[in-house]
Formats: sequence, C-alpha cells, structure tokens
Amino acid sequence: METAPVVLSTEELTKVYKNQTAVDRLTFEVREGEIFGFLGPNGAGKTTTILMLLGLTEPTRGKLQVLGLNPTREPIKVKQKVGYLQENMGFYSDLTGRQMLSFVADLNAIPPAEAEGRIAAALEAVGLAADAEKKIGAYSRGMRQRLGIAELLIKDSRVAFLDEPTLGLDPDATQRIMELIEDLARRKKMTILLSSHQLHQVQKVCDRVGIMIRGRMVAQGPLEQLAREKFGVDREEYTLEEIYMKYFLEA
Ligand SMILES: Nc1ncnc2c1ncn2[C@@H]1O[C@H](COP(=O)(O)OP(=O)(O)OP(=O)(O)O)[C@@H](O)[C@H]1O
Ligand SMILES: [Mg+2]
Repeated sequence: METAPVVLSTEELTKVYKNQTAVDRLTFEVREGEIFGFLGPNGAGKTTTILMLLGLTEPTRGKLQVLGLNPTREPIKVKQKVGYLQENMGFYSDLTGRQMLSFVADLNAIPPAEAEGRIAAALEAVGLAADAEKKIGAYSRGMRQRLGIAELLIKDSRVAFLDEPTLGLDPDATQRIMELIEDLARRKKMTILLSSHQLHQVQKVCDRVGIMIRGRMVAQGPLEQLAREKFGVDREEYTLEEIYMKYFLEA
C-alpha cells in the first residue's frame, strides 16, 4: 500500500467561510486501492473537504489534486471520474430505481446494450433487484443508500467519496453496506475516502484513518500506528473508538 500511487492529495488546504475557518491547513493523501477513514466530530470540516475535492466549493487557500486533476479548475472532469455518495442522497423521486441507474449509465456514456446487464448486476449486488420498479420516492433510507452504492457500481469509478454512507441505517443494512464498500476496494481496487461516525465499522474496513478536529488533521495513519502513538501499544488492545476519544479529548 505504501508504494501504491497517490490518488488524491491536499497541501495546506484551507476553507474560510465568512467568519469561520472550516478547514485549516489540511495536508493528507490517499493511495490507490486504499480505504481511508475520514473521521472527526460534527462540524470538523469533513464534508467541506469532500466538497472541495469534488470542485463543488472553492478552497480559500492551499493545493489539492484528485487523479492528477485540479478540482477547482476542472470540476466537470473530476465529477465524471469520481463516485460520490452524499450525506443526504438527493434522488429524483419520480424515477424507479432502475430508471435512475439507466440515467446514470446514460450520463456516463455506457452503451445501452451494456448498460442493461450492468444495471441488473448492480441491483443484484446491493439487494435491490426486487424493488427495482418501485419509485425512489417510496424507498426507505436504507434502500436509497443502497441505490447510491449501485450508482457507484454503474459508474465504475476508480475513486469514491462516501460521506456517511450508513447514516440512519439499521445494523443489518449497515453491515451490508460496509461489506459492499470493502468489496469495491478489495475486488475492484476502488480507492475510497470514507467519512463515518460508526467507528466500530470503520475499524473493520479501513487501511488508514485521519482524525480531523476543528478543521485540522490531528492524526493520520494505520490504526496500529495511532494506538502506538497514543497508548504505546498495538491496535489489538485498543478499539478505534478509544483511540479517537483520546485524540478528541486532548485536542
Ligand atoms: N455553506 C456554509 N457556510 C458557512 N459555514 C459553513 C458552510 N458549510 C459548512 N460550514 C461550517 O463549516 C464547519 C465544517 O462543516 P462540515 O459540514 O464540513 O463538517 P463535518 O465534519 O462534515 O460535520 P458532520 O460530522 O456533522 O457532518 C462547520 O462549522 C459548519 O458550520
Ligand atoms: Mg458532514
């Protein structure tokens, strides 16, 4: 993993809103095929960082690149190449799940003959095959999140930003989504930036984590390294939650 190419990076990335610094000189990188757990309390600046990486909001200062592209200058190219699961998935509620995925396939210029099979496979993979003809407006929250993952499968992007993909899901749905995410990284070699408050789940799938507090990255690395830094021992003896809380309380 250490030698895998860097897929996205930031350097002293800063975002200042009117009277507040949301992201403060953030420097980090994510390597190909890695699941990077992007952690931090409410208001830490995680979503703001993701929006800058997608070119949806402009940085105030600092550098950033995603797949060698500058999101501020080439936002459309970045959006084409990067999968994005939003904090609050907004979908066209009048479409059925299958129609939504056809729309995504169209947008990504996938030939119709190929799209059909890919859509069927994606619906199957996320467990939505039986609900494919239902309107999204009638989907539950968990079904919407799954549809979001199906969208990533259709797009087949090399990088995905997942902003709280399991927010509000029941334990079973959470586990299934996490398994899907792990599968995307391990089998499809997708690089994943995963923001989540469910540390127990994050601990199971992440290669490295970054802890952001008040706009600053206070720690980043594999869990074992953070455990060693904070407790002087390896991860086996501490949960990510304990490690996180220690950084949080000291910040
Ligand atoms: N459009 C905006 N205008 C002004 N301030 C904003 C805007 N968006 C975010 N902020 C502020 O920036 C800070 C970081 O917010 P952000 O949404 O990035 O946090 P987060 O880490 O994603 O939190 P959460 O875990 O609650 O999703 C917060 O203090 C927030 O109030
Ligand atoms: Mg957020």
